Amino acid sequence: MSAPAEDGVVPQAIRKLTPGKLVIASHNEGKVREIRALLAPYGVEAISAKELDLPEPEETGTTFVANAELKALVAADLSGLPALADDSGLCVDALNGDPGVYTANWAETPTGRDWGLAMQKVEDALATKGPDASRDAHFVCTLALAWPDGHVQWFEGRAEGHLTWPPRGVAGFGYDPVFVPFGHEQTFAELPAEEKAAISHRTAAFKALVTAVF
Ligand code: IMP
Repeated sequence: MSAPAEDGVVPQAIRKLTPGKLVIASHNEGKVREIRALLAPYGVEAISAKELDLPEPEETGTTFVANAELKALVAADLSGLPALADDSGLCVDALNGDPGVYTANWAETPTGRDWGLAMQKVEDALATKGPDASRDAHFVCTLALAWPDGHVQWFEGRAEGHLTWPPRGVAGFGYDPVFVPFGHEQTFAELPAEEKAAISHRTAAFKALVTAVF
């Protein structure tokens, strides 16, 4: 099966997910908690890669699909269970989609991740494009669901919007304080969590998954 284009999910041979155990191929406890809650109504018992002591593979892919897929396949292979992984990031039109799959890397410092610095880097990069450069951007979330026999399927969600400066709001995480979703005036970091969740790229990707596999 070939991978979908980054801007959408191609028709796939969908395999249904039956009630039972599923590995969440992430060591990020926040993500695991969120995913566990989303899957609980479908009789899926989500176990994290950390609970199974699975290694965290290096994200060597150059696309969201490749990174999500490699994480899901490693976890499915090592656990013998279906496994779900996600990869997400911010794509800025005037920066040809950067920081994209390197969204988290733009925050790296010798002492950990600094999201203020990451947002500043995006703003600085935009400034080099001139005052008329588009400030349109979108968040992407790609989910990969893999089985131990190597079958994989992908689901993508997007949140479209534009970047504002300076950052506003204290809710959320990452680049939320500079991202204003279309149809809103507040940033993701100013919107109540439920309002962000209702329009977020992660929720959209999950809706696509749930519709297809249950
Ligand atoms: P990864 O998917 O764990 O590789 O991380 C992607 C990065 O994208 C995160 O560390 C965040 O900085 C950023 N990101 C993904 N989704 C969001 C979001 O909803 N709000 C703000 N930043 C996000």
